[in-house]
Amino acid sequence: MSATRVCALSELEQDTARRVVIGDVPIAVVLDSAGEVHAIGDTCTHGAISLSEGFVEDDTLECWAHGSRFSLRTGAALNLPAYEPVPVYVVQIEGDDVLIDPTVTKEF
Ligand code: FES
Repeated sequence: MSATRVCALSELEQDTARRVVIGDVPIAVVLDSAGEVHAIGDTCTHGAISLSEGFVEDDTLECWAHGSRFSLRTGAALNLPAYEPVPVYVVQIEGDDVLIDPTVTKEF
């Protein structure tokens, strides 16, 4: 699969996660306060909760259900109860388009 346009850059609200689904892959897209766009798996690894319904703080996204925070950079679960990471996807910005290939994840 090649990169798919998921939204316009101008549609992203700073420090707010936006859920997109490419095929059957749910992804949380976040424009952080430094202006960087991140894309991580949208399903909390502790429960079937959409992380994009949670809270962005600096470069983390917090699950609203039980408070686990995930790194937007590495996908790592930073505190319990979640301990498994979520995938991190490569984001491409082309003009005002945000593109993500759900088959390409970053390795850490
Ligand atoms: S479901 Fe996300 S921390 Fe429990």
